[in-house]
Amino acid sequence: MLQPRTIEIVKSTVPVLAEHGSQITTRFYQLLFSNHPELLNVFNHANQRHGKQQMALANAVYAAAANIDRLETILPVVRQIAQKHRALNIKPEHYPIVGKHLLLAIKDVLGEAATDDIIEAWAEAYGVIADVFIQVEAEMYQEAEQQIGGWSDVRRFLVVRKVEESDMITSFYLKPEDGQPISSFLPGQYLTVRVQPEGHENTHYRHYSLSQAPQSDTYRISVKRESGGEHAPAGIVSTYLHDEVQVGDVIEATAPAGDFTLKPDTAPVVLIGGGVGQTPLLSMLHTLAAAEPKRDVYSIHASRNQAAHAFGQEMNDLAAQYSHIHTFFCYEKGSEAEASVHTGFVDAQWLSSIVPASVWEDADIYFCGPEPFMKAIYRAVKQLGVSPERIHYEYFGPAGSLEV
Ligand SMILES: Cc1cc2nc3c(=O)[nH]c(=O)nc-3n(C[C@H](O)[C@H](O)[C@H](O)COP(=O)(O)OP(=O)(O)OC[C@H]3O[C@@H](n4cnc5c(N)ncnc54)[C@H](O)[C@@H]3O)c2cc1C
Ligand code: HEM
Repeated sequence: MLQPRTIEIVKSTVPVLAEHGSQITTRFYQLLFSNHPELLNVFNHANQRHGKQQMALANAVYAAAANIDRLETILPVVRQIAQKHRALNIKPEHYPIVGKHLLLAIKDVLGEAATDDIIEAWAEAYGVIADVFIQVEAEMYQEAEQQIGGWSDVRRFLVVRKVEESDMITSFYLKPEDGQPISSFLPGQYLTVRVQPEGHENTHYRHYSLSQAPQSDTYRISVKRESGGEHAPAGIVSTYLHDEVQVGDVIEATAPAGDFTLKPDTAPVVLIGGGVGQTPLLSMLHTLAAAEPKRDVYSIHASRNQAAHAFGQEMNDLAAQYSHIHTFFCYEKGSEAEASVHTGFVDAQWLSSIVPASVWEDADIYFCGPEPFMKAIYRAVKQLGVSPERIHYEYFGPAGSLEV
């Protein structure tokens, strides 16, 4: 239990720390990785460069500190972050390391302004916040391990099939090397793979949404090749999976995780995917097709062009088999061969022309894609009158806000 004086100090200094946010986080990661280089096996190096992830961790600590006397209000956010931590195998013993380096960074940046009282108060508050995360994560580890086919930490999977879905997207079918059952998952969740390409000093974790309905013995992930460009190197893990990993090879993975999942409901569903952002929605689509014939499902997929378009046949096959499934496609650039495909961008006008007005009144909307795409969809569905609690989306990177 924190003393009122400690709470007062922490709350009154949150704005000071937040003001020096980027300086403190930059120093924090410098110190963390120089004292604990083994943590480079866990953190995504590209996200570090973007700075977005760097700010995410410290900002979440400040947000928690601002609510230190009513931490129960931030539990939903803790659960969201904890899903990623569990998938990345973050353990209780990591918390004091992060806490120590955060305090060192605060001291370094604030200098004399960081009095002993302030540092002590923050050390205590961090301990309380860390305990909340550790407890929530302990429950998640237990759940992942104790369910049928479940496991803790990482498990080895054989690539049993590799299928090119488009010029950029390839699917990998994975079966556990131990031949034992696999755990089920909720449509929309992801599998987190851990690989160490040849010549790399560190392991790399990446999340990949499961792109099929749950199966008894196989997971499917579908990966877009990140080719990089003039100013960006090719993506480490996607390139490795595309170029090096073949049928018969082994990759490691932690148990399925994630909170972007189909809510139990009877209302219609609208799924809107941009590019490879279609993967979690595809799992939802397969599940809804087979299990919920009374729910109308409008599945919309936007691709750059025909060559980049993956899963078109798979989606159309579902629509042909089940009358409650309706599929629509959109290409940014037109193709004369595909008269049925909308050309341009997904906007409120096109959406209202393909999905009946009554559906927007009570449908659950799920979407995923690049950030500009998600911002546009968010605007469009709000314009169509969808209430915020029915809007659900996933970021293929550190979570962010779609409000402009
Ligand atoms: C919940 C979730 C689900 C996901 N599901 C999927 C999925 O189903 N399918 C899928 O394909 N992806 C998915 N992703 C994204 C995936 O996890 C990876 O982020 C993606 O594959 C890129 O990883 P990488 O190792 O290839 O690229 P990284 O090496 O991580 O690089 C990422 C990007 O940064 C750029 N970059 C790297 N270094 C620099 C630099 N110095 N300067 C400028 N730019 C740089 C690279 O060109 C690349 O575009 C998901 C992500 C999340 C969070
Ligand atoms: C109370 C302490 C902590 C808070 C508030 C916190 C908060 C966060 C937040 C907000 C994210 C971003 C989630 C997202 O991707 O959407 C994140 C990701 C992450 N956290 Fe934590 N975290 C804490 C402790 C730790 C610890 C102890 C470790 C382990 C050393 C850790 C490792 C990571 C990693 C590896 C990621 C993913 C980053 C990446 O993309 O590379 N965190 N954390």
